[in-house]
Amino acid sequence: MTYRRILERNRRWVDATRQSDPDFFARLAEKHEPHFLFIGCSDARVPANVITQTHAGEMFVHRNVANLVVPTDNNLLAVLEYAVEALGVSDVFVCGHYGCGGVKAAMASARLPLVDNWLNNIRTVQRLHAAELDAIADPEQRYRRLVELNVVEQVYNLSRTPVVEAAWARGTELRLHGWVYELTEGLLRDLDVTLDGRPAGAARSPAASAPNADTAPVTSAPPSIAAGRRLVADAR
Ligand code: CO
Repeated sequence: MTYRRILERNRRWVDATRQSDPDFFARLAEKHEPHFLFIGCSDARVPANVITQTHAGEMFVHRNVANLVVPTDNNLLAVLEYAVEALGVSDVFVCGHYGCGGVKAAMASARLPLVDNWLNNIRTVQRLHAAELDAIADPEQRYRRLVELNVVEQVYNLSRTPVVEAAWARGTELRLHGWVYELTEGLLRDLDVTLDGRPAGAARSPAASAPNADTAPVTSAPPSIAAGRRLVADAR
């Protein structure tokens, strides 16, 4: 497809949309109130709105190579701050994907120096989980596990950002999720490492409101580092 075709497609989409829903653009322009922030890979095959079947206006999006949450990345931090403080999103998804070229390149060495530098963040994940990864004999399985562990670690990184810590400290409803997208099937998988600012175990306990000793009122303290590590272990 040539780039000119993109503009043609845009015109056709505008015409078709106006015909079926004359107020569509006016309605969208009126307000910006997405409930979700999607942090995904820049890979063209993982478009946030398409794979989540959300419409325009429903998903705030940040994408970079290999869906990383780097604590010094001002771009991501600004998106996160705006999403939490201004838009008031309730859920943040870190979405990795099997077949990720970034994760694959991190396991070797990339030929592009800036990409290689960026991918060092994944090599840190690799080092943190070396024992588990080294025990996986099949290279493809080892790679898929690194894709998952990378997501888990990025969820953890997200939980340690000043934006998220401040939101949780004041009791804001904010959940951080780790997902992986299966390119070959189109399916999203929840890694079940959701953090919501409550101590590990309390977040996902179905009996949280039951009157017993385990379920005393939960304070909205940020998860400890130990809780974060436990979260990584739970993801197995
Ligand atoms: Co990717």
